[in-house]
Amino acid sequence: MRILQIELTNFRNYAHCVFAPEKGINLIVGENAQGKTNLLEAVFYCCFGRSHRTSRDRDLIRYEAPFARIDVRSERTATTHDIRVLLPRDEGRKVRVDGAKLTRIGELMGLTTCVLFAPEHLSIVKDGPVERRRFLDMELSQTYPAYFFLLQQYMRALRQRNTLLRALKEQPQLRATLPVWDQQLSSLGSKILRYRAAFCETLSRLAAENHREISGGREQLSVTYKPDLEAPDEAAFLRALEQAQKEDLRRATTTRGVHRDEMALDLDGREIRAFGSQGQQRTAALALKLSELDLLRSVTGEWPILMLDDVMSELDERRQRYLLERILPVQTLITATAEDAAWPSARRFVVRGGELQP
Ligand SMILES: Nc1ncnc2c1ncn2[C@@H]1O[C@H](COP(=O)(O)OP(=O)(O)OP(=O)(O)O)[C@@H](O)[C@H]1O
Ligand SMILES: [Mg+2]
Repeated sequence: MRILQIELTNFRNYAHCVFAPEKGINLIVGENAQGKTNLLEAVFYCCFGRSHRTSRDRDLIRYEAPFARIDVRSERTATTHDIRVLLPRDEGRKVRVDGAKLTRIGELMGLTTCVLFAPEHLSIVKDGPVERRRFLDMELSQTYPAYFFLLQQYMRALRQRNTLLRALKEQPQLRATLPVWDQQLSSLGSKILRYRAAFCETLSRLAAENHREISGGREQLSVTYKPDLEAPDEAAFLRALEQAQKEDLRRATTTRGVHRDEMALDLDGREIRAFGSQGQQRTAALALKLSELDLLRSVTGEWPILMLDDVMSELDERRQRYLLERILPVQTLITATAEDAAWPSARRFVVRGGELQP
């Protein structure tokens, strides 16, 4: 998989820009606040149908401009895709793939795949379970687009069940409709659980391997899926939801389910979040991200695009070298504030004030 060209119009600080990255490593160099991350953000948007830094599409429109547009041409074995994202200031976004309008943003998932690694991804390792669930959900969605739709349906059912639980305080007669949502949540939840369990198992193996290589084999990284409900099937899921009903009614929210799942990350059996040093946390996060490269490759047959935002300077020489070896077959976009000697074969692009310098 690779990006052949990306064209930005009124996107963030770019009035207009055409960027044609090469097959291997592309180094995007520029001082702070010149538009390096903005460029990666546009690629990310075409992969996931959203920005990695904001949930408000309006933020992406150049100040005062009436709309923003991203045009990406990506190539995978035997096919190319033209993706066009139009973000008007005053109406809903419009996304087209090869000229055809998408009705659901989920249809974008999996067409162009990317793995982004930025300093803020340390939160996967450092912060609470929400960050790890988001990581799981994002990576599963682009690996298996069907998962994205499952998750969307689950979240919708969850919101509706919670609205009902709140309404029951005033209108107890509505209680008869609760089983409808229990049914839905257990049917969808048990499927999500199966996806996550299988994913974490593969991820654990790959991440341990990557981690061994990066860190020189000193410690053992393990990834363990910790579902909130240990339910082997839909019926067990339903029973567990029913058991939690009293508590749910009391707290007027759905207390159990896959929206409460956790993924434990341990180093030699100890929780990295609590015991890992900064460097250990960074290495673990990098190992997880690199595993996502392998996973996508093995499921889809294509290497995703790799984007490394501002991470090179934080890695020591050994980790930089390992990374360089690993990414040889992968189209990679790397941002840096200074020309980096570690990347002799890289094609260089200089960004200044929302313009790519010739
Ligand atoms: N909607 C927008 N319209 C115009 N300019 C914007 C918009 N959103 C952000 N910017 C500008 O884009 C610039 C930031 O770009 P970006 O985040 O890509 O910087 P960067 O090159 O990655 O910098 P750093 O090295 O600090 O990470 C800032 O100057 C910001 O003011
Ligand atoms: Mg940046």
